[in-house]
Amino acid sequence: MPDPAPRSHELVVRVDAFAPNPGDLAGLRDLPDGAIPGWDGSGVVVAPAADGNGPRVGERVIFLSLDAAGWAEQRAVPHAMTARASTALTAEHLATLPVPATSALRGVRRLGSILGRRILIVGATGAVGRVAVQIAARSGAHVVAVARDADRHRELRRLGASETHRSVESVGGRVHGALDLIGGEQLVAAYGLLDAGGTVIALGHAAGADEMFPYGAFVADPSTANRSITSFFLGAEPDLVPDMTYLAADHDLHVGPLDVRPWAELGDWVAEGGPRSGGRVVFRVDQA
Ligand SMILES: NC(=O)c1ccc[n+]([C@@H]2O[C@H](COP(=O)([O-])OP(=O)(O)OC[C@H]3O[C@@H](n4cnc5c(N)ncnc54)[C@H](OP(=O)(O)O)[C@@H]3O)[C@@H](O)[C@H]2O)c1
Repeated sequence: MPDPAPRSHELVVRVDAFAPNPGDLAGLRDLPDGAIPGWDGSGVVVAPAADGNGPRVGERVIFLSLDAAGWAEQRAVPHAMTARASTALTAEHLATLPVPATSALRGVRRLGSILGRRILIVGATGAVGRVAVQIAARSGAHVVAVARDADRHRELRRLGASETHRSVESVGGRVHGALDLIGGEQLVAAYGLLDAGGTVIALGHAAGADEMFPYGAFVADPSTANRSITSFFLGAEPDLVPDMTYLAADHDLHVGPLDVRPWAELGDWVAEGGPRSGGRVVFRVDQA
């Protein structure tokens, strides 16, 4: 492929590592032949933006751009989607952050002040969920984490969850708000747990299932008034750089086990459907 041709607001990054997201994989079938997939990753700036903004040459960065083109040795990316990163964190750790961790932070923030409040996180073992658990706990919430694999509940408690459950159905009592990464029946059940005025952020849809609400879910009742469900799209979120910078400087954030592979294995991994055994799969770009 030719080297990227940056526009004036774009800098060029030498890509060191990337960690495919579910959305990257889902989008592959719609890409035309010859397109370069990949939303996000980590690397080092090799050419600054011509308009003078953003990180400088030689700086370690994380980046995201839903235009894709990230699974490459170099990519052009807008400076407004590129954040300076700690050099004390590995390229592989940093590569896991841009899309999932930024989404988790923005999703939790949408719930408003959560200090002392009970917050439900559904799909807590995924890349978004585990960061959401940590951020919500730091923010002072009583975190109720839902993950279908009970073997990972102890880990979720170490990350800050106060309660763990295998499904939303077993959660007792109401919650102030919820971040749902699963959809389907879990989203319907999460909505049913909301206090009056509470919100479910329907951020992810890992189950790929329809949502069917029972009669009564929206019927007037003072104890459930003004509840809402809201959709979320990271690509529509403004001013991401300060939050990306915060995450890329955070030495206490646990991203879980990483399965690091050379990027020559990417094609086979994609052809197999992107299998994982617990940790996040990260590809290390070997520069030619
Ligand atoms: N709206 C946005 O802008 C945005 C941004 C980022 C991500 N997302 C979406 O958010 C979701 C999570 O992303 P991610 O990166 O965290 O994905 P991930 O790392 O693959 O995690 C997926 C999570 O979903 C769980 N899961 C999958 N299928 C399930 C099912 N049928 N029932 C119950 N749990 C199930 C997995 O559990 P196990 O660990 O047990 O396998 C895991 O906890 C995806 O749908 C992704 O596309 C949306």
